[in-house]
Amino acid sequence: MKFFVDTADVAEIRDLADAGLLDGVTTNPSLIAKSGRAFKEVIAEICKIVEGPVSAEVTALDFAGMIREGNDLRKIAKNVTVKVPLTIDGLKACKALRADGAMVNVTLCFSANQALLAAKAGASFISPFVGRLDDIHMEGMNLISEIRKIYDNYGFDTEILVASVRTANHIKQAALIGADVVTAPPAVLKGLAKHPLTDKGIEMFLADWKKTGQTIL
Ligand code: E4P
Repeated sequence: MKFFVDTADVAEIRDLADAGLLDGVTTNPSLIAKSGRAFKEVIAEICKIVEGPVSAEVTALDFAGMIREGNDLRKIAKNVTVKVPLTIDGLKACKALRADGAMVNVTLCFSANQALLAAKAGASFISPFVGRLDDIHMEGMNLISEIRKIYDNYGFDTEILVASVRTANHIKQAALIGADVVTAPPAVLKGLAKHPLTDKGIEMFLADWKKTGQTIL
């Protein structure tokens, strides 16, 4: 399973990339606003750090506007993935941009039928938002299972990019279901390494090591 980080914070991206944990990056207008930086400038900087897909989202809602914005964003770097919303215009833009060789991430997916449409439009990635479904008392992970089944039934090669990930459990469930990618905030990705018995084990080993009076260097 590929790991993308869901942030526009360049320091966090660099940190995770240095740990070999990053296969790509996703951003959205809210994350760009949070970074306080100029959109294209921050995307360009991220694309220099990470070789994999870097999602940059259009803000136009009509087909022609999405194509204009998408083509402009693609000029930033060859790993820019144009992110479009799951609307009819978004699907049209997805089809046209894919035909022109762009990578496209169709975002804001909340149903299996929406995911089916994105695959038919040739999306590179579909982004189902599990956390936001959990927020309204639905089981976000059920959607991932449904999409996996449907894509496998018909051999669609659109990658399932599990988004709106809030917990380490979301990541484990996504991996068990066989999702292709998860995108998660930096703290959630880093949290995967955490276990109280690991911390306790380090503490015990170091206490015993101290008793030996030795040093390695
Ligand atoms: C995905 O591409 C989105 O940027 C993101 O995962 C949304 O997450 P949120 O629901 O925590 O805002």
